[in-house]
Amino acid sequence: MCGIVGYIGDEDIKEVLVDGLRELEYRGYDSAGIAVLQDNEIQSFKAVGKLKNLEEKTKNFNPHAFGMGIGHTRWATHGKPTEINAHPHLGEFSYVVHNGIIENYQELKKELQAEGVRFLSQTDTEVIVHLFEKSYKALNDPMQAFEATVNKLEGAYAVLLMTKVDPDRIYFAKNGSPMIVGNNDKNDIFFGSSDAALIGKATEVIYLDDGDYGYTSAKEGITLLHNGKEKTLNKKALLGDKISAQKGGFRFFMEKEIYEQSEVLVDTVMGRALDTKIQFEELDPNFFDGIDGITICACGTSYNSGLACAYLFERQAKIRTNVEIASEFRYKEPLLDPKTLFVVISQSGETADTLEALKMARDAGLKTLAICNVDNSSIVRISDYTLLTRAGIEKGVASTKAFATQVMVMWMLSLYIAQHKKTMSEEEISAEIQAIRHIPQAVKVNDKLHEKVKRLSKRYLHGHGFFFIGRDLFYPLALEGALKLKEISYLHAEGYPAGEMKHGPIALADSELFTIALMPKNIHYDKVKSNVEELSARDATILAISPERFELADDYVHTYCSDHAMSEFFEMMVVTQLLALEISVRLGNDVDMPRNLAKSVTVE
Ligand code: G6P
Repeated sequence: MCGIVGYIGDEDIKEVLVDGLRELEYRGYDSAGIAVLQDNEIQSFKAVGKLKNLEEKTKNFNPHAFGMGIGHTRWATHGKPTEINAHPHLGEFSYVVHNGIIENYQELKKELQAEGVRFLSQTDTEVIVHLFEKSYKALNDPMQAFEATVNKLEGAYAVLLMTKVDPDRIYFAKNGSPMIVGNNDKNDIFFGSSDAALIGKATEVIYLDDGDYGYTSAKEGITLLHNGKEKTLNKKALLGDKISAQKGGFRFFMEKEIYEQSEVLVDTVMGRALDTKIQFEELDPNFFDGIDGITICACGTSYNSGLACAYLFERQAKIRTNVEIASEFRYKEPLLDPKTLFVVISQSGETADTLEALKMARDAGLKTLAICNVDNSSIVRISDYTLLTRAGIEKGVASTKAFATQVMVMWMLSLYIAQHKKTMSEEEISAEIQAIRHIPQAVKVNDKLHEKVKRLSKRYLHGHGFFFIGRDLFYPLALEGALKLKEISYLHAEGYPAGEMKHGPIALADSELFTIALMPKNIHYDKVKSNVEELSARDATILAISPERFELADDYVHTYCSDHAMSEFFEMMVVTQLLALEISVRLGNDVDMPRNLAKSVTVE
């Protein structure tokens, strides 16, 4: 998804911008560009593909003195990923970068074209720069022209604009897409569409709200407006360090993030799983009053974690729970009952469909709760309550530690509700807490396991497809295992309920059909076993993941946790993550930035 950076100061502007864009690479992009304004001259460079192409193009450009610049990584939505469609977009004397979608761009474009404006690109963004210049010509005041431009835009946007008619300022506006502005001790000014771009640069930041706009300059600092009125700057210290956001000795961010799960899960449970009870300081004691059902809504991996935890909510907290894919939910005209707690799950907190579903629920008067990894994200800001997952920055596009921490938070939440509703005894809750505390151990990757999966992976590079199968909680885990594999290996993989294979998919079974069987000891072992036997009888190639040796399997990964279904769940999760990783490595794919995918999908 697109990324934005901006800078005013006397450091090497090109370096600052490209460096910031590099921190946003994990979001996914297919072209990049920068524009630098110095001594009333704007220089702009764009390149299709990775940032190294942009660096190559700018290698003889060394803007060392004071100045300002804007930069962008683009993930194509309107128009192909070409250099012309890459940002910054230029008019006669101004440059703009934009994230989001201008929904009324076609009518604005038609109006401008009718007045003789020539468009170079196929993007929605280009209307912004032309609208600005048109307004400037009419009003002769850049601030008023910017305000008039923003007022005409419908849809989601985070915008930075530089113009030669006001060469000291960067103008900005935010609505629906994230944007952060910050400064350091020298009063250099930085912009970013995510704080990853500002870590190590800005010391304090402002997370802009929808409808905020304004301008910044070295002399004036940051001027923030909302509905035409100046707004006080709500600056926050920018925490986090860059090193922890780097690869730390691993080949890939995804690999590092798989290994990190043990540590981050300790953070996730800290101060929440006490000896005999679950505590969430973020929730009011009366948080659950009047609630008689839960609807969970999310996309992708976050949806799979919701699906898994619905089993826990019903089983432990005895509360009716349904799980919805956000992009479907938005348009199905759902019946929303104010007695339902609406839970959204999102790693980024910016996924457009999840955000819009959340707004629908809020507008219908439902109590809302976000399970999210990014504080101050759009989803967090509009939810009534938030439980942060505390996974830290996740850079691999294929989500791993975010999934693990989401499941953990919701497992604790189901116990929290069970406490409140008294559907479990104190002893039962204490036993669950013991199991929770064991999970960081269960997800530790040992060298033997990783080596085994690495060796196994070479036998799974061909075939006509994978089925990951499991029952109960292990069915959503099968879905997630299959999603991981297809995201980074580009091989066809499906997750399926083990008991449902005979109703169709078994027709595909032959030696070239790979079945990854999740066979936990604690949940329906015998039933899954007979489902796998049915596949084995049809000569399917079977990789069994289980604490019990299964003689009919072609390959076998021995898991060790058998004390609790959830420790089996987490241990098997790691095996499926490593399997996807190693297959992808053998196929020579870009593990961290798989083709066609984006880390944060801020368009519907
Ligand atoms: C994208 C990512 C997935 C993620 C999904 C939902 O598709 O590539 O990894 O699961 O969005 O994202 P969210 O940030 O809302 O969890």
